[in-house]
Amino acid sequence: MDRSEATVTTLGEMSSTRRRWPLAALAVSAGTFLASCASNAPQDYFDPAGPNAEKIDTLQRPVFYIAGVVALIVIGAVGYIVFKFKDRGQDIPEQSHGNPKLEIALTILPAIILAGIAVPTVVTVFDLNKQDDTECIINVTGQQWWWEYDYATGECGGVEISQPIVTSGELVIPADTPVLLRVTSRDVIHSYWIPRLNGKRDAVPGRLHTLRMQADEPGIYTGQCTEFCGLSHARMRQAAVALNQADFQTWVDNQLEPYTAPEAGTLAATGEQTFIANCSKCHQVNGIANADGTPVLSDPDLYVVSGVAPNITNLMTRTAIAGWTFDLINEECRDALWTASPDEFGAMYLAGVTPDCFDEAALRDWLRNPPGMKPMYVDPNNLDSTGGKYRGMPMLNLNENQIDELVAYLLERK
Ligand code: CUA
Repeated sequence: MDRSEATVTTLGEMSSTRRRWPLAALAVSAGTFLASCASNAPQDYFDPAGPNAEKIDTLQRPVFYIAGVVALIVIGAVGYIVFKFKDRGQDIPEQSHGNPKLEIALTILPAIILAGIAVPTVVTVFDLNKQDDTECIINVTGQQWWWEYDYATGECGGVEISQPIVTSGELVIPADTPVLLRVTSRDVIHSYWIPRLNGKRDAVPGRLHTLRMQADEPGIYTGQCTEFCGLSHARMRQAAVALNQADFQTWVDNQLEPYTAPEAGTLAATGEQTFIANCSKCHQVNGIANADGTPVLSDPDLYVVSGVAPNITNLMTRTAIAGWTFDLINEECRDALWTASPDEFGAMYLAGVTPDCFDEAALRDWLRNPPGMKPMYVDPNNLDSTGGKYRGMPMLNLNENQIDELVAYLLERK
């Protein structure tokens, strides 16, 4: 077989493969669609859990059905014509052009359909942007690759926040209360989305975009960054956690509790020193102090492109780390929490990472080798383009003893 024959064979094989492609694609997408309908997906935007998402749902369902019917008619007509008039060597049919009645009808009909969709769409867009009834302000800042939440002082859903609270990963909000998020970014464009609570909002450096968030009932509502933002875009996740007013009060009180240093002589006490030596340059723990009593203050501006690293004062009140990507609790506890009834949820969430639920594997792996867990631009030999700063958490070359100490110390951050 010479070279040209080989080429012919390959092309023949390719075209038959190509013919099978649409069928395979159709089967896969139909399968995916049906599977997603059947499963209880936590990010199902057809399953709204708050008034904003409900407004979107009320709009998207009729649009989806109308578009579906139009799609079926068009695909059906195209399919019928393709098979019916397939070239079988027959004579070319009589040629005609121009059919004013048909052309006018085919212009007016889509215009009516589009107008029918446009009116409720515009109404919904304005409705979703309403914010004069919000009872709480939370600043949401995206960076590579995690979300920071900082709570303005003042009243939030009937609960007084006396000092700023800075946290990350899990946005904790009072249930049944309209909350105003002010969304921005410290580096590139990200997008904040909790599908069951509201639509997306881009986080753009230098701009402040607002987003109204409200959950009807206590529970956890997950989401993820939806604007491509670099290597770990897929590992930039988030959740909104809604608590009833009493539980939200407990959460706020807990976040504002003064720092308690580990008991002298414990592994955690050694861990506090290890933390100061290795982690505190970037990560703030509120209230932590040196032996002489001076506060230990982080200065991530010197080391990280975004200028900020997560505040981990109350790390063990959250259920996941590193851009809410790796669980701190085992699968059983996570499933129980995610499927808890609104009545049980608050107590379960406020218990934090309990000894029964704690799964240290991810935390240890993360401390051991962060870039190995999550792709980040942290090659120390290649920081010219970022002025010597990291995007994400670099490798600290901690030994296993130091990791033991840090885990013991971090376990007390609740
Ligand atoms: Cu942040 Cu994608």
